[in-house]
Amino acid sequence: MKRLDTTVSSIRQVAEGYYELRFAWPAQGGDEPGPGRFVTIRAGGRYDPALRRPFAFSDYRAGAAGEGGEAAIVFQVRGRGTAHMAGLRPGDSLDALGPLGKGFGRPARGARPVLVAGGIGVGPMLYLAATLAEDAAAGLCEAPILAMGFRNAAFAPDIDLPAGAVICTDDGSSGFKGTVADWLAGFDPGSPPAFYACGPAPMMAAVARLAEARRAPYEAAVEQWMACGVGACAGCAVPVKSGGFVRACVDGPVLDGSIVDWEASR
Ligand SMILES: Cc1cc2nc3c(=O)[nH]c(=O)nc-3n(C[C@H](O)[C@H](O)[C@H](O)COP(=O)(O)OP(=O)(O)OC[C@H]3O[C@@H](n4cnc5c(N)ncnc54)[C@H](O)[C@@H]3O)c2cc1C
Ligand code: FES
Repeated sequence: MKRLDTTVSSIRQVAEGYYELRFAWPAQGGDEPGPGRFVTIRAGGRYDPALRRPFAFSDYRAGAAGEGGEAAIVFQVRGRGTAHMAGLRPGDSLDALGPLGKGFGRPARGARPVLVAGGIGVGPMLYLAATLAEDAAAGLCEAPILAMGFRNAAFAPDIDLPAGAVICTDDGSSGFKGTVADWLAGFDPGSPPAFYACGPAPMMAAVARLAEARRAPYEAAVEQWMACGVGACAGCAVPVKSGGFVRACVDGPVLDGSIVDWEASR
């Protein structure tokens, strides 16, 4: 983990209120972004907002050996920090800290990765889908399925989607009409599934129930509010079924979804 004074390479609106931000990623001696890991960005002036804002990587392309590469995030404008970020332009400087946190693991050989995304969870799942597609091409797992849920077509991102990606909208304005959980209920993975998800708590809870019913592994990337982002404040506590909490920033943000108390997380 390192603080980077880096530069915006591109920024574009990809859906209503959503932007893709790409930025240079300097070489860091092997500590690289990965699906599920995140970066914190000083989003605004030096002191306002005071806290860095966390965002999961949506892509990373390594450059030539020892040269660094380019990383990306997909973010939604929610408040002051993200509104400032939406105004960034190519060439602007960016104060980033990362890569942080524990990312997604790989499925067992022969398993079908089933990726579920909603809202601001789309970025990390697109990155994971691209990585697992490479694994599938190398025979390490079955081809991943990516199912994404949105309120309506205006929120579905204008981004290259992996082959076979499924879009679900609440109003049926694009793809399947209904929630992503509705779609999953009728889906036959064909091989033993391994579930991965990032999105709103009700969606994460629905995937947990499905994974439990199918006795399948479930890796869940939580988006708990964070303050320090490095394990020092306990501001990102996630309740677990056994009682107590884990810290999203250092124990996660990717957690074993079967241990999280999703009802208490809502
Ligand atoms: C590990 C991690 C990864 C994340 N990845 C992404 C991502 O890829 N794309 C993306 O758009 N967002 C992501 N987020 C959420 C993002 O950090 C917040 O949306 C952002 O910090 C809001 O900053 P702001 O200054 O614009 O809003 P603020 O003014 O701070 O808050 C505006 C509103 O957003 C709510 N909010 C703030 N932080 C969070 C949060 N962490 N979760 C839920 N609600 C929040 C506040 O309660 C408030 O209602 C991630 C969060 C975490 C912890
Ligand atoms: S945000 Fe401070 S411990 Fe996680």
